[in-house]
Amino acid sequence: MVKKIAVIGTGYVGIVSGAGISDFGNKVTCVDILEQKIQSLKNGIIPIYEPGLDEIVKRNVKANRLDFSIQVSETIQKSDIIFIAVGTPQAENGHADLSAIRAVSKTIGENLNRYKVICTKSTVPIGTGENIIKWIKRSMKNKIEFDYVSNPEFLREGSAVKDFLLPDRVVIGANNDRAFKLMKDVYRPLYINETPMLHTNVITAEMIKYASNSFLALKISYINEVANLCDIVGADIHQVTKGMGKDGRISPKFLHPGPGFGGSCFPKDLNAFSIFSKDNGVELRTIEAAILTNLQQKIKMTNKMETLVGGSFKNKKIAVLGLAFKSNTDDVRESPAITMIQTIIDNGGFVNAFDPIANRTMKKIFPDIDYYTTWEDACKNADAVAIMTEWNEFRGMDLLLLKSLLKSAVVLDTRNILNPKTLLELNFNFDNVGRKVI
Ligand code: UGA
Repeated sequence: MVKKIAVIGTGYVGIVSGAGISDFGNKVTCVDILEQKIQSLKNGIIPIYEPGLDEIVKRNVKANRLDFSIQVSETIQKSDIIFIAVGTPQAENGHADLSAIRAVSKTIGENLNRYKVICTKSTVPIGTGENIIKWIKRSMKNKIEFDYVSNPEFLREGSAVKDFLLPDRVVIGANNDRAFKLMKDVYRPLYINETPMLHTNVITAEMIKYASNSFLALKISYINEVANLCDIVGADIHQVTKGMGKDGRISPKFLHPGPGFGGSCFPKDLNAFSIFSKDNGVELRTIEAAILTNLQQKIKMTNKMETLVGGSFKNKKIAVLGLAFKSNTDDVRESPAITMIQTIIDNGGFVNAFDPIANRTMKKIFPDIDYYTTWEDACKNADAVAIMTEWNEFRGMDLLLLKSLLKSAVVLDTRNILNPKTLLELNFNFDNVGRKVI
């Protein structure tokens, strides 16, 4: 029998999960209390930029497997499995703000009318499952049986649809077999394709999510430090990572040096993991170091830029190309470009900003800098250019044209996407991350 599934929260994880789960053949209703958002989704307008999401939503709406609603209570009552996918932003004290999770748990408890599986997709602090169970029980009118499951999500912005439909593994933290089997059934097509399905208990599943994100971030901070060392001693970080990555135990993934990691997950999750471990009497020193290294890496990029323009940003106009925290997204949360722009303007410089899609989102943070609709326009008469995001259109930029547009041929390539040899041949004054010497 086709299971009825509710996904509560239509943020990034909610929309992608809702669309993906419906694509697996389930009947899904995505709900939110934000009426306007639901109305837009009903009209086929997706509020986030994510390659492929439009199509998968349209396909499943058309097939009657996916719809959107503001009727939260009614949808909960009608569903067999309820996914919680509301936001868990970082509160001022570094802890996750669980107010939305708590409110949703209460609503679920109030509307439990028969056995259901309640499953968390949002990244919640380790141990939150226990609290969710308590909050649900507390608001239940009658004693009704339910199972709680932690099913963390590993999708990346920019490749979210692919990551959801073709995951490396599915982690299902369920404290009994009944709930695990129901969840396995939601992911039936993956199970048939032999995607590993890991059955753990709830707290282990919660731990897997933090341990995974932290390890990936750790890899990035590590390689950024090695790249900085390459800068000093004249080694080529690309060859270093190639040589390392060929070792199957290391893998070449997440070994790209850059301006430091950003986004809505790594910075927040590492802080939460570190605080959680301290609260439990364990110090995650490697994670603390990764956080610190990352902050320093963002600052290091601004120092490199300052050096390239002669030691001071005063009255210098810098073209900042790429505002998103990575390519294929319009998300600028914790983006290294923010540190760069802030430092330039704090020190008397000016910014010409350009991003293929993130100008709009960055305008909310820096309304007063100049935004351009092409990289060429942003570079006209600038004293230097800082490439902050690895968009493909920057990889293929005509460097002769770039040189002719700039007031002086100065480039900081924080993503190592330009060929240093060509830059050298064209007499650019340039810097990158660990590839200066060729
Ligand atoms: C990350 C994880 O990769 C996902 O598995 C996870 O589901 C998600 O967080 C989450 O918890 O929701 P995301 O933040 O979307 O995904 O983006 P990533 O592709 O992981 O990139 C994060 C940051 O690391 C970016 O700033 C990126 O530029 C940087 N990065 C990534 C590097 O500097 N070097 C690399 O080799 C890889």
